[in-house]
Amino acid sequence: MSYLLSARCPLNLSRTNPWRRSESTALHFYQNKQLELYASKDPKPMTLRQLVFYGRSMNEDRLLKSANYVRTELPVRIAHRLRDIQKLPYVVVTQEGVAKVYELYWSAFEKFRKYPPITTLKENEAFCDFLAAILDEHATVIPNLWLGTALSSAHLAPDDLDAFMRKMLVSRISRRVLAQHHIALSDTFAGKPEPSKASESNVGIITTSLNVKASIEKCANLLRHRPLEVEGTADVPAEVEIEGDVDMRFSYIREHLEYIVFELLKNSIRATRFKHRGSRELPVMRATIAAGDNAIVLIMLVGGGLLTLQDQVKHPSDLFSFSHTRNSSRMENSRLGSLRTASSYGRGIWATVNEQVENGHMPMGIGLPMSNIFATYFGGSLELVSLDGHGTDAYVRLPKLGTNLETLPLYYLCIT
Ligand code: COI
Repeated sequence: MSYLLSARCPLNLSRTNPWRRSESTALHFYQNKQLELYASKDPKPMTLRQLVFYGRSMNEDRLLKSANYVRTELPVRIAHRLRDIQKLPYVVVTQEGVAKVYELYWSAFEKFRKYPPITTLKENEAFCDFLAAILDEHATVIPNLWLGTALSSAHLAPDDLDAFMRKMLVSRISRRVLAQHHIALSDTFAGKPEPSKASESNVGIITTSLNVKASIEKCANLLRHRPLEVEGTADVPAEVEIEGDVDMRFSYIREHLEYIVFELLKNSIRATRFKHRGSRELPVMRATIAAGDNAIVLIMLVGGGLLTLQDQVKHPSDLFSFSHTRNSSRMENSRLGSLRTASSYGRGIWATVNEQVENGHMPMGIGLPMSNIFATYFGGSLELVSLDGHGTDAYVRLPKLGTNLETLPLYYLCIT
């Protein structure tokens, strides 16, 4: 049953919510017709390679086509997720964090739907400003959604909750990739690439010759002296040795690779610090890069146990779960507290790894599930393998050729 569509059960979410803004049944009916129309369309997924090839030979006509693709594609992708939220049990969708996300998505859906076709470079500039403002406005989506579903997780079966969150998060990554890629292509076309990216071989937001070793080194350097909740250990440096195919380069989105590496290293260093607290030296951690002919980049991070499985989970894959039934740490006060702070300010969740370090460490339990989602977005994988008495190692596989389609959730969630 669709709760929000029911006239008997209108949601009273907030002043900005369309359901409350007007008492008019006719308006509700019209808005839902529009939503149905867009949600009945399938998204058009892209491969990384398509994004690179299209962006490589840019001209005005192609840039405007890219703008109009983003303009028409994003409301379709948002409409699917709005329908998913509408299908959640009432007690979940009225939870403050979830309701906030619903409002943001409704508002973005309406804005995109009404946005006129982009026909000139000047109009494209305005469109990029519009995109940048929405990207910014949505900075609090993840902590809000996370907090909202954590607090109502008792009302959703773990499989349903995990499926819902996975769809919401993959879809969000996909929309942000399209928006940010288009903004970056437009900046390059206008001759104003971001200063930090100017020297790199970038097409839009994709680095076409991404140096895997350099990214691991960068993350290791940022983390080397961080105590990571193990008090009094910051002066004992954590060293990471990188081995294997250290010259490996491939086309990928730098922020995605570095988010994964940073989170895995962070967990590894934290576990190592904890295991060896009181010692003046830490065992060296290892990261192995293996580039297979089969077009897969395999990064293996091996420490003195990447993670010590906490009591909260039975199986390593439960660390990816959003449900408190599978991972009881979801309901820890400190995590909920960090989520509350982040849901008001929003920074530090999607930030680059540098920004995460600057903003300080707020343990929210988001890192591993998000890394899993980033790894699988273009068809890769993240696997955690436990060895008794040793710890847990992580295996990340990222497709090297970029020929996989985005793994977009195409179908509605159905909770019965
Ligand atoms: C999000 O960040 O949640 C988005 O959906 C952004 C997109 C509308 C540009």
